[in-house]
Amino acid sequence: MRRVVVTGGAGFIGSHLAEALLARGDRVTILDSFTDFYDPRLKRANLDEVARTGRVELVEGDIRDRGVVTSALAHADAVVHLAAMAGVRPSIEDPALYVAVNLDGTANLLQAAAKAGIKTFVFASSSSVYGNNTKVPFHEDDPVDHPISPYAATKRAGELLVHTFHHLYGLDTPCLRYFTVYGPRQRPEMAIRRFAECMVRGQPIPVLGDGSSRRDYTFVSDIVAGTLAALDRGRGFRIYNLGESATTTLCRLVELLEANLGVRATIDRRPAAPGDVEETFADIGRARRELGYAPSVPVEEGLSRFARWIRSRAP
Ligand SMILES: NC(=O)c1ccc[n+]([C@@H]2O[C@H](COP(=O)([O-])OP(=O)(O)OC[C@H]3O[C@@H](n4cnc5c(N)ncnc54)[C@H](O)[C@@H]3O)[C@@H](O)[C@H]2O)c1
Repeated sequence: MRRVVVTGGAGFIGSHLAEALLARGDRVTILDSFTDFYDPRLKRANLDEVARTGRVELVEGDIRDRGVVTSALAHADAVVHLAAMAGVRPSIEDPALYVAVNLDGTANLLQAAAKAGIKTFVFASSSSVYGNNTKVPFHEDDPVDHPISPYAATKRAGELLVHTFHHLYGLDTPCLRYFTVYGPRQRPEMAIRRFAECMVRGQPIPVLGDGSSRRDYTFVSDIVAGTLAALDRGRGFRIYNLGESATTTLCRLVELLEANLGVRATIDRRPAAPGDVEETFADIGRARRELGYAPSVPVEEGLSRFARWIRSRAP
C-alpha cells in the first residue's frame, strides 16, 4: 500500500486514476483547486463517484500555493501530477496563466516532493509537445523544440524542470505524453464530448478544418493502466508516449459518433485553429517494453462505451 498524492484528482483523468489506486488498495490524497476552466460541479460529481470506490483525502487548494503543496505532500510516498491548465486554444488567450499554473505549480510540487523525500514523481505531459512533427509515428527521441502553442511549451518546459529535479535529488520521474484522452467524464470542451452533446441535443457540431486532421485517441482506462505502470515501474528520468498507436481522421470520428449515438450530425464547418496540430500518432514501443503498457480499447470500442455514458446522462 502506498500513499499517493494525485494533483488534479477531481478532473477527468485524475478521478479515474484515483478510483484505480483505491481499488488496488493504495491510499489517495487528491490536491485540486476546482478551477472554473469548466464547471466545478462536474468535478465535485467526479469525486462523488470516486468516493464509491473508497475513502480519499481531499486537499482543496492551489498548486501555486507552497504552504498547501507542502502539507499535501507531507506523508506521501509518490505524486502523480495531473493538475494543469489544459487545452491548446485557451492557452493562446492567456499564456501567462498557463505558465503560472503549469510551471510555477510544477516547480512547487517538485521542490516539496524533494524536501519530503518522495521517491516517485509522475508527470502528465502531452503529445502536443511534438508540434507539427511530420515524421510519424512520434517517437520519444524526436525533436520537440518547436511547440506551436503556449500549452505545449509549458508541457515541454515541465518535462525539463522534472529532469532537473531528477538530476538534483534522484527522484524517479516518468513523464507521460498522453495522446488525446477520451471516455466517461471527459472535459466538456474537448471535441468528442462537445460533438456528442451537441448531437444528442440536435445542435450542429463545430468541425474545424476540412476533417482530414488525425488524432491518436486513447481511451481513459488505457491511460490509467499506463500511469499506474509508470508509478510502479518508472525508474530514473524517462519519457513515455501513451496512446493507442492508431490514428483516426476527424471525419471518421464523426461517423463513429453518428453510428454509436444513432444520430446524424449537422456540421458547422469552421477554419482550422492556430496552435492545433495536423496529426498525432504515438510510437508506444518504449512504454510496451519498459512498462508493460498494452492498450486494449480501440477507438471503435471506446466510442461505443463513451456513447453509452453520454446517453446515460441525457435528460
Ligand atoms: N485529456 C487529454 O486528452 C490530455 C492529453 C494530454 C495531456 N493531458 C494532461 O493530463 C492532465 C489531466 O487532464 P484532464 O483532461 O483530466 O484535465 P482536467 O481539467 O479535467 O483536470 C485537471 C484538474 O486540475 C485541477 N487544477 C487546475 N489548475 C489547478 C491548480 N492551480 N491547483 C490545483 N488544481 C488545479 C482542475 O481543477 C482539474 O480538476 C493535465 O495535466 C493535462 O494537461 C490531458
